[in-house]
Amino acid sequence: MKMWGGRFQGSSDERMAEFTRSIDFDVELALDDIAGSIAHVHGLGRAGLLGPADVETLVRGLEDLRDDVEGGRIVWDPALEDVHMNLEAALGARVGAVAGRLHTGRSRNDQVATDVRLWLRRTLDRLDAAAVEMERALVGLAVRDGDAILPGMTHIQPAQPVLFAHHLLAYVEMLERDRGRMADCRRRANVSPLGSGALAGAGYPLDREATAAELGFAGVTANSLDGVSDRDFAVEALSAFSLCMVHLSRLAEEITWWSNPRIGFVRASDAFSTGSSMMPNKKNPDPAELVRGKTARVIGELTGLLTLLKGLPLAYQKDMQDDKPPLFDAAATLEASLLVMSGMIATLTVNREAMRSAAGDGFTTATSVADALVRRGLPFRAAHHIVGALVAEAERTGRGLDALDDATIAAALGASEDAAAVALAGDGGIAAEMRAAAGLEGAMAGCDVVGGTAPRRVAAALAAARERLGI
Ligand code: ARG
Repeated sequence: MKMWGGRFQGSSDERMAEFTRSIDFDVELALDDIAGSIAHVHGLGRAGLLGPADVETLVRGLEDLRDDVEGGRIVWDPALEDVHMNLEAALGARVGAVAGRLHTGRSRNDQVATDVRLWLRRTLDRLDAAAVEMERALVGLAVRDGDAILPGMTHIQPAQPVLFAHHLLAYVEMLERDRGRMADCRRRANVSPLGSGALAGAGYPLDREATAAELGFAGVTANSLDGVSDRDFAVEALSAFSLCMVHLSRLAEEITWWSNPRIGFVRASDAFSTGSSMMPNKKNPDPAELVRGKTARVIGELTGLLTLLKGLPLAYQKDMQDDKPPLFDAAATLEASLLVMSGMIATLTVNREAMRSAAGDGFTTATSVADALVRRGLPFRAAHHIVGALVAEAERTGRGLDALDDATIAAALGASEDAAAVALAGDGGIAAEMRAAAGLEGAMAGCDVVGGTAPRRVAAALAAARERLGI
């Protein structure tokens, strides 16, 4: 006999039962469901709907049940549809008929909404810890190898040299925003729908605030229809998860390129690489590639949930049962991705020489040379034009900008339409000044603003990150 079977004469078609049940995935909510039930029993006691003896019996039974769930000793019965009815039946088997009083003033609709919020709250805490772990790995690498110089890119073309630490700290910024988004989501998720009943509100004078407080919620939902059918928190979570995965995916993409022997900036450790079944030479950065791949799945899960919700009238609709697989999967995927990427980053070998030599390729210090001319009074446009001509000359003669001779520099200045440039051509010190600006160190030191790659600015940013992370 089904728990809801009073009005039914016929039995369920097996195809229907199989199709509608959720026990295969909502077991994930078992501990949250039990916590919600214990608080609800206390609430029923406070409202005088259960006597003290029944409260005690039910709470003890639920606590036993919790131990058995934790110990993996529950056999979930698919015929009981979902985790809620499985647990209620298991409670009945332990404490007898009094279990039939548990569901007073409660529907599976407010129950499951409560469970998912509780689950999300603790899951967000775990993900926050994983994000911190990832930040620690990035900052650890920045401490170890951060003074290496990387060719900063725009359009995937060499642009300007940057400190490797600066590059790594950019990802720390992204992760900090991810943490902020998850904390924000947690704050909005952290209210209790319990007492909303099926949709109209429980039919008993339950003290919703007291039950919410017992469950650690910051308050209660204000509208029962919204309470049972709001899944915004799940959308917000999936959106925060997706964006965090996108950040990891961008880093993963960089790691795969950096690991290519032609580039050779980094080498993944054996512990975070795989080989090929056919090609004995292969060493692949598989975890990074999979993080990039799994990002697609998490984005799909966000899109799926939004699509699931868009056509739903108030209040609870069975469609909502399908909010769980994407949410559970996305959270697990993000956590695993953060942890594997942390390990990969923490064990990365950096080839400073390869980075440094690439950092100078492509005349990446040209902007710095133009800036040096501006400091000597030239309009930036004129300086840009002169240095452009010097880049062309350096390229033609196979030299770096820091290897241009005095005569070449004086000629370029003298050929300018700008009077100040022509005057500067006769200055004996200018060529040496420009060559200094053309060095990698000089170029980076010039970017001396808050948030810039000048070593002293990066050192300050790194110190702040270390302080925050306690490393
Ligand atoms: N398994 C259901 C879900 O996850 C629980 C709520 C069922 N409510 C209902 N009225 N059938 O959404």
